[in-house]
Amino acid sequence: MTDSWATFGADLHLDLSAGRGLRAGLTEALREAARSGRLAAGTRLPSSRSLAVDLGIARNTVAEAYAELVAEGWLTARQGSGTRVAERARPRRTPPAAGRARRPARGGPSHDLQPGSPDLSGFPRAAWLSAARRALTNAPNEAFGYAVEVRGRIELREALAGYLARARGVYADPERIVLCAGFVHGLTLLAQVLRARRVREVAVEGYGLDIHRDLLVKAGLRTRPMGVDAEGARTGELGAGGPGVGAVLLTPAHQFPTGVALTPARRAAAVDWARTTGGLILEDDYDGEFRYDRQPVGALQGLDPDRVVYLGTASKSLAPALRIGWLVVPPGLVDEVLAVKGVTDWTSSALEQLTLAEFITSGAYDRHVRGMRLRYRRRRDELVAAVGDRVGVSGIAAGLHAVLDLPEGTTERSVIQSAAWQDLALDGLSRHRHPEADLPPRPAVVVGYGTPSDSAWASALAALSAVLP
Ligand SMILES: Cc1ncc(COP(=O)(O)O)c(C=O)c1O
Repeated sequence: MTDSWATFGADLHLDLSAGRGLRAGLTEALREAARSGRLAAGTRLPSSRSLAVDLGIARNTVAEAYAELVAEGWLTARQGSGTRVAERARPRRTPPAAGRARRPARGGPSHDLQPGSPDLSGFPRAAWLSAARRALTNAPNEAFGYAVEVRGRIELREALAGYLARARGVYADPERIVLCAGFVHGLTLLAQVLRARRVREVAVEGYGLDIHRDLLVKAGLRTRPMGVDAEGARTGELGAGGPGVGAVLLTPAHQFPTGVALTPARRAAAVDWARTTGGLILEDDYDGEFRYDRQPVGALQGLDPDRVVYLGTASKSLAPALRIGWLVVPPGLVDEVLAVKGVTDWTSSALEQLTLAEFITSGAYDRHVRGMRLRYRRRRDELVAAVGDRVGVSGIAAGLHAVLDLPEGTTERSVIQSAAWQDLALDGLSRHRHPEADLPPRPAVVVGYGTPSDSAWASALAALSAVLP
């Protein structure tokens, strides 16, 4: 017989072996649950009365089973704290297997300066917790059910509409915001929409993230690389792509990984191309919040909300683990995006969405971004002071990474190799190059100065300094 009961908010489940007396069956089932570790040490068991009611048996039967297990040392019974699984019942834990992390490099090297991650130690735990508490307290009951709105929670869409308009210059109506599980999910949805529109090719920046290119290819699209120089992607090349190119993926605020901002002329060229061909611009605004020296660079979407799909993420400003991103979709595209998203609506939890909404509207998001901006700017200045006389440091007006151009005679491979000997992880620039890109050789490394925790930063910088010529 299998029986379960709910108690103290925890759902417990017992297998009461058939064919044994009730008391013997219950005793063995509890013993087994404690021995196997399924009931962890310290777990509080239901009172004998409520368990007896749940199981439909006499209270005495439960009390006797508890007493027997207390005598054997599997359970403890103390006045005031009830009956609990004893500490000695704790099973031996097997040590976690090495290399289980999805990105093995994270947590692997002693010094991690790979780009792509914010300082995880800076996550605003206390402020997030209090936002979560307020969000849960105020959430309507339906928020705990299956999502009915494919766009995602209205509370977060409204909060984002205000924030994006205010901080990033985005024309954002909550009805045109679609929440997703980070940028990769948003791009996956858009790739499917493009395929359904019979688009065959997407223009991409000659330097960019391979996982994003791979994702487009997996969706059945070809990627056509554009050149990248000191003004950003050479969007004037878009016309040469011919009618097969139906969209372009850009990082206008802070080109990944070179770090330059797309100039106004190049922005205008991209918008002109989109208007004349009916193409779409996919704007990846992954670290737009972090700018230091210059006037804010607004989102490209503000130039033409009908032709630009804006993609934002909480991965840099807060934490990748949240898996929360957002699309601001042109009016003519909303239904197509929702149709694709509605098919498999895997996305971030509604409760996290509500918490982020509360975090933004309470002002905690702005406070957090301001604090992190100071932290990252200080590191960026320390990086330039430490290595700026030996290598060319660029891409530093914004974001969480910099490009270090190596002096003549030094190869990228030799620096990466000496870094590996110091157990220092960083990326070579060539790693991010599209295999078909027509770009001049550029020996350089990409340094994610945002990645280490504050306590690990100084030693990471010292290790970097030691491996540069
Ligand atoms: C260029 C670029 N775009 C977008 C992202 C964010 O991706 P996601 O929101 O899927 O975590 C990153 C993160 O590393 C990135 O480097």
